[in-house]
Amino acid sequence: MDRIKKILSTNLVTGGIGFIGSHVAAVFLEAGYEVLIIDKSSKKRGIQHIKDIVGLSEKSKKLLFFQIDMLNYDALLEVFLSNTDIDAVIHLAGLKSVAKSNFCPLLYYQNNLVSSINLLRVMEDTGVNKLLFSSSAFVYEESDTQISENAKLMPKTPYASSKAMIEKIMSDVQKSAPEYWHIGCMRYFNPVGAHQSGKIGEEVTNESCNLVPIIAQVAAGEKQCVTIFGDDYETRDGTTIRDYVHITDLAYGHISALKKIAEKPTYCVYNIGTGIGTSVIEMIKFFEKVSGCKIPYKIGKRREGDLKMLVADPSKSLAELNLKCEKSVLEMCADFWKWKQIGEKDI
Ligand SMILES: NC(=O)c1ccc[n+]([C@@H]2O[C@H](COP(=O)([O-])OP(=O)(O)OC[C@H]3O[C@@H](n4cnc5c(N)ncnc54)[C@H](O)[C@@H]3O)[C@@H](O)[C@H]2O)c1
Repeated sequence: MDRIKKILSTNLVTGGIGFIGSHVAAVFLEAGYEVLIIDKSSKKRGIQHIKDIVGLSEKSKKLLFFQIDMLNYDALLEVFLSNTDIDAVIHLAGLKSVAKSNFCPLLYYQNNLVSSINLLRVMEDTGVNKLLFSSSAFVYEESDTQISENAKLMPKTPYASSKAMIEKIMSDVQKSAPEYWHIGCMRYFNPVGAHQSGKIGEEVTNESCNLVPIIAQVAAGEKQCVTIFGDDYETRDGTTIRDYVHITDLAYGHISALKKIAEKPTYCVYNIGTGIGTSVIEMIKFFEKVSGCKIPYKIGKRREGDLKMLVADPSKSLAELNLKCEKSVLEMCADFWKWKQIGEKDI
């Protein structure tokens, strides 16, 4: 590689084969950065799809992939030692099923905490000091109004607790060497949608509990109906309300967040959401509109740890990152539907 001609630095995206990671990798590549992905999953098709989207040839070295489990400190260290131009890390690797975490708390704590601690240790050992972390709105308690970054943290599930604990670890690590670390925690609300090409998107697995992938399965005739977990919440139609944010808006937010933390050593937290709430029933209606399919639903019991309403106050990320998450819920549904019909069949 010709280091003299290189304009922008290399970012490491952990969990980069996943839903958010593949979009983050694509936007960084489009913006001229080079990207290394590490992931324990081996879905190399995903890497080729990212290359296709940004117009890179199969052999291009601007995007490299290392299949490792971040629980393995030595393997992680080896990636950093053999790629000495890593400038920043976007840490997205993690287990994310809120429901499953209630049944397998140790799995969630071990995977999410140990991989994050290993990452911090390796970054410290190799002199890499810029880090963006994928936290979640689930660290907050429910609220009838928009939630700002200063709100009390009240994680209710092992998944959410693992995120709050990692944030605390990162904050303590930053405090211990305040002139060294540049750390930003991004509290994502509900990322939805897919890349407009329809080539990358959110894969639906047996563990999936995100609403839109399940609605899309019903629309596609893969499932009979959507189960709504509770219709007796104190909301406008009795179902829970979330702040859905288009995945590409969220992915672009990482570019501005990285530039922001690069300015000076810091520990900062940003909400990534639109500030607009949508109920489960409203989301089903939006999806019916874009897909043209009838989506039957039934009412089930409330889920343990579920929250009535989570909507971001996006004013800090707007003011400090100039982040405008503007794509509508209809666009999110339309892009997801396109991915479901094109991309999901080719993973
Ligand atoms: N999607 C959401 O709704 C949402 C909301 C808030 C926060 N987040 C967080 O954002 C991150 C990315 O989410 P996503 O939706 O892309 O999830 P995803 O499951 O699609 O991707 C996560 C990736 O991390 C990898 N991974 C997990 N543990 C690993 C380990 N020990 N070593 C190496 N790779 C590992 C997985 O193989 C997977 O490819 C997660 O940490 C998640 O908790 C997601």
